[in-house]
Amino acid sequence: MTFVVTEACIKCKYTDCVEVCPVDCFHEGPNFLVIDPDECIDCTLCEPECPVEAIFPEDALPDKWEPFVKINYAYSEGPEAVNPLVDAYATEHNVQNPPLDSA
Ligand code: SF4
Ligand code: F3S
Repeated sequence: MTFVVTEACIKCKYTDCVEVCPVDCFHEGPNFLVIDPDECIDCTLCEPECPVEAIFPEDALPDKWEPFVKINYAYSEGPEAVNPLVDAYATEHNVQNPPLDSA
């Protein structure tokens, strides 16, 4: 099992999660963070830290965030594999999260 970062993190990136993760398995791209499923030890510490509730356990992921399983797992193909998927998702779903610096 792992934890999964979802839509609310796009263009958001509070990074509170990064500070609590004991194994440093968050990885930051230009518009998003993912959790490397191979590194996550299911400690649960990050889930309550995200101010926009973007983090879920994979086995309790709401159906609407299912596309983010693929996006987080794409990290195993290299960091460059993640961002095109995030961009495609954001375009398709017209994601309009406010940027962090204007919140
Ligand atoms: Fe890191 Fe724990 Fe969150 Fe996994 S559950 S991403 S190990 S803080
Ligand atoms: Fe993103 Fe939430 Fe972490 S917005 S960077 S998952 S604290």
